[in-house]
Amino acid sequence: MGKVIGILSLKGGVGKTSTVTSLGHALSKFDKKVLLVDGNLSAPNLGIHLNVLEPEITLSSVLKGEAHPREAISQLENFDIIPSSLYNRSLINPLKLRDKLSSLKRSYDVILLDSPPSINEETIGVINASDEIFIITTPDYSSISTALKTARNLKQRGAPLTGLIVNKSYKRNFEIPLNHIEETIDVPIMAVLPHDVNVLKAQSRFKTPLEYKPNSEISDEINRLAAVLLGEKSKPLKLKSLFKKIKPKKQDINRTIFYESTFKQ
Ligand SMILES: Nc1ncnc2c1ncn2[C@@H]1O[C@H](COP(=O)(O)OP(=O)(O)OP(=O)(O)O)[C@@H](O)[C@H]1O
Ligand SMILES: [Mg+2]
Repeated sequence: MGKVIGILSLKGGVGKTSTVTSLGHALSKFDKKVLLVDGNLSAPNLGIHLNVLEPEITLSSVLKGEAHPREAISQLENFDIIPSSLYNRSLINPLKLRDKLSSLKRSYDVILLDSPPSINEETIGVINASDEIFIITTPDYSSISTALKTARNLKQRGAPLTGLIVNKSYKRNFEIPLNHIEETIDVPIMAVLPHDVNVLKAQSRFKTPLEYKPNSEISDEINRLAAVLLGEKSKPLKLKSLFKKIKPKKQDINRTIFYESTFKQ
């Protein structure tokens, strides 16, 4: 039975869709069946990122009950996607997402959900459908305050919040330090992705950074996150080796704790 992972942020443009595509690609490289679903029904762009521009059947048709979820799947080279419709004008019920995805959980190891940048019924549909949730933030005050609001909202709902992904980091001293971000939001940072112009270059070619620059820092960090989510032994550091390192990275420690607590019971 596959797990559904929601990628959330109530702030726009922080990198939800970019993370869904690159993480989806990284997960697929572990020989896993991966499905990406565009839960951003009001302003969908997962299909645009992946050059699926005018799909005949979309998530919107599925939620309207006009099509079976399987009919909305487009098969790409490394993973499958269910895009949403750019042109949908009629009423749909996003709260049916969980129900619609349940029959697909048997066919996929991981289903990644993209989401809109606001707390509306579409976001609640994604939250309810998710077995694990990551909040994306950039390391600046406005994004972090929104991430805090998102985290509080999720905690109040008892939603399965797994961690934070800090995106577009320049690693410069004008940014909010990682330990402050983590203390403020009170959720472990599971990955720190650098600001990298190759993300934009890759997207202009409808590729992920893993295809475009497989040996870049962003690809390495995404691979490490994918590995730990799948319980792959090779990637996370062993707890012992963490303490031998002079200064282990916060996200390395958190990934190791996640691995030990999730897969080593
Ligand atoms: N690590 C990164 N380095 C550089 N640019 C990035 C990075 N991640 C994302 N971007 C760029 O930031 C922009 C917004 O990214 P993206 O569309 O993934 O955000 P989003 O959170 O899904 O936005 P929305 O809320 O509008 O759906 C895009 O132009 C993307 O290429
Ligand atoms: Mg998006």
